[in-house]
Amino acid sequence: MRPTVIVGVSAGIAAYKAAILVRELIRAGCDVRVVPTPASLEFVGKATWEGLTGHPVHTGLTDHPGSDHVELARIADLIVIAPATADVMARIRAGFANDLLTTTVLASRCPLVLSPAMHTAMWDNAATQDNVAVLRQRGITIIDPASGALGSGDHGVGRLPEPEEIARVCLDTLASTQTSFSSNEQMLFGRHIVVTAGGTQEPLDPVRFIGNRSSGRQGIEIARSSARMGATVHLIASNVEKSLLDDLEPSISVSFAPTAHDVELAVQAQCDGADALVMCAAIADFSPTSVADAKIKKTDDSSDVPTIELERTTDILATVAHSDSRPTVLVGFAAETGQADTVLAYGKEKARRKGADFLAINRVGDGFGFGDVDNHVTIVDSKGELVGEVSGSKARVADFLITTIAQRLATIDG
Ligand code: CTP
Repeated sequence: MRPTVIVGVSAGIAAYKAAILVRELIRAGCDVRVVPTPASLEFVGKATWEGLTGHPVHTGLTDHPGSDHVELARIADLIVIAPATADVMARIRAGFANDLLTTTVLASRCPLVLSPAMHTAMWDNAATQDNVAVLRQRGITIIDPASGALGSGDHGVGRLPEPEEIARVCLDTLASTQTSFSSNEQMLFGRHIVVTAGGTQEPLDPVRFIGNRSSGRQGIEIARSSARMGATVHLIASNVEKSLLDDLEPSISVSFAPTAHDVELAVQAQCDGADALVMCAAIADFSPTSVADAKIKKTDDSSDVPTIELERTTDILATVAHSDSRPTVLVGFAAETGQADTVLAYGKEKARRKGADFLAINRVGDGFGFGDVDNHVTIVDSKGELVGEVSGSKARVADFLITTIAQRLATIDG
């Protein structure tokens, strides 16, 4: 079951930022309904909210159908109001019910998150501070406004925090209050997973590169499995055929990283705050020291063969494992060739060396592993001890791996 979140929007200049909040919540798998106050429609109109959510938007108590506050309150798993003006907070404190939003709040039993935004003088006013204190005492989550440039041109406390931060508070609140999301289906609800997929290509000249045979299918299935289990996902794709990225779940965002260096930068940018990183991409260990500006030509002398000098690339997985931005769970893949026992021995040794929590060992080459074929994966822990084994479609392997990660995250959270 997807959680239903009601996003209340009250009349402030920051109302436009609520559109990003709505998008983030939808990406995270929530069914979102927007209930604006009538005055807020001066800032952002109904068409925006209806377009983003796919649901009709109402503001008053009599514009039927769909403006039934009791029904809205009943289906809501969480209500968030962003921006919450001084006026809307005062009305909620006093128990007013004079528009659809405040009436729904009054009729609800679910958690309420308020993200105030207003001029510093209004925020500092004793009446507002008193309202905030009382609302907090009642168990309502109030996100402190940020400091910076205000709509009036002044500087000070009162800015709406970044919508991504508000979304994170909402998702954390949902994850801690909704037992139904701890079912297997939504085990990763509120989690953020970063996945690398594909194979890097290190350019030699404008037309040639050193690459590998990884198609990206396994990494994409891992991203999709994470999304189906409720996570928001960032997929770092290296030279993946475009059609494989069609029809991805809406909670998956994608960036492109053709070379090992690009993957390194993308991982650095995406890892902060991630719950897990799955390094499924086949990343070049060596890259040409220089890239020719023009196509490298052969001469008439048949013995004239260019020498390509290579340098080592960064071992991204090992670097992340020892960095401050290490996600809670780190997973590597070991693509090995040879007989099954050699593959396992190489993989176990690699697991001990890399510093990842899990290493998924798979045999590649000679019809194994690459492309549109089934996979056989053995998962070991950081000591090289067996955690599990799975064979079958890449989707099946992905589900198994992601369940293992979800269980580890749940254990860590106690
Ligand atoms: N990896 C990485 N950075 C690299 C090379 C690999 O982060 N420069 C990651 C891969 O994404 C994978 C894991 O390390 O998750 C193992 O990759 P693999 O190619 O099997 O091992 P290597 O460490 O490159 O060792 P070797 O190629 O010598 O077996």
